[in-house]
Amino acid sequence: MYSSLLVETVNQIATITINRPDKLNALNKTVIEELGKAIDEVISDPAIQSAIITGSGPKAFVAGADISEFSSLDAAGGKALAQKGQDLVFSKIENSPKPIIAAVNGFALGGGCELAMACHFRVASETAKFGQPEVNLGLIPGYGGTQRLVQLIGKGRAMELLMTGNMIDAATALQYGLVNHVVKAEELLEKTRSILTLINSKAPLAIAGCIKTANAVFNEKLDGYAIEIETFGKLIATADAKEGAAAFMEKRKASFKGQ
Ligand code: COA
Repeated sequence: MYSSLLVETVNQIATITINRPDKLNALNKTVIEELGKAIDEVISDPAIQSAIITGSGPKAFVAGADISEFSSLDAAGGKALAQKGQDLVFSKIENSPKPIIAAVNGFALGGGCELAMACHFRVASETAKFGQPEVNLGLIPGYGGTQRLVQLIGKGRAMELLMTGNMIDAATALQYGLVNHVVKAEELLEKTRSILTLINSKAPLAIAGCIKTANAVFNEKLDGYAIEIETFGKLIATADAKEGAAAFMEKRKASFKGQ
């Protein structure tokens, strides 16, 4: 169905693998369009509760936007490329009501680091490397990297990475808070799936509420506290919240239905 992605769903967790290992999974037009469709599928398919994004092969998560597509672009074309990517993929991942987690298995550079940062959080292998090397090409990130890097690791560290183009290893990414866990390469998917299995056992509407309200922190047009109050109110009236409270009182495990 996809030419540049592998998508497999097991136990309601979709694993989306970007599959251009000979080009270090660089994000060309096709990958961006296919990723957009795959994310739409994750969001709309009731049989999927959450998703993992990872890269094919041992070397790279994603080594950036496909540089071979850059040379023909003028200013309007460059702006359209960035806008399209942000609309089709990066903002859509960030605002997905279902958790989407990056399992970073190697180089996450440029658009690859941006893709990992658009996800709700990141798990990395010991072999992962992160960076925004766009200045080496006379560019800046165009898929939200300047914004999300500052949000995730703070302005000083982000400024240094953006302006030097330097890469950091997984241990440094962990210390910076860019990733939540660093594990051996062979344990990466298992670790990520185990976290999602736990999340999938919670009430889906509450998980969607966590994503929506935490994202509101970074949108200055929104009042995150007001959204939290409103979302709390909506959730408390749901069948799953009634079930959660009843299960606690009856000392049994809650069974949530996403309603
Ligand atoms: N766009 C297009 N092609 C890319 C790419 C990218 N972002 N990153 C890697 N590739 C291709 C290489 O051109 C090469 O293709 P070829 O075998 O047809 O020549 C192949 O992937 C393997 O990459 P190579 O550079 O030979 O591997 P390496 O181990 O020597 O270096 C990197 C690995 C990640 C350090 C290096 O590929 C690199 O710097 N990539 C670009 C990173 C970047 O600037 N990203 C931001 C883009 S905005």
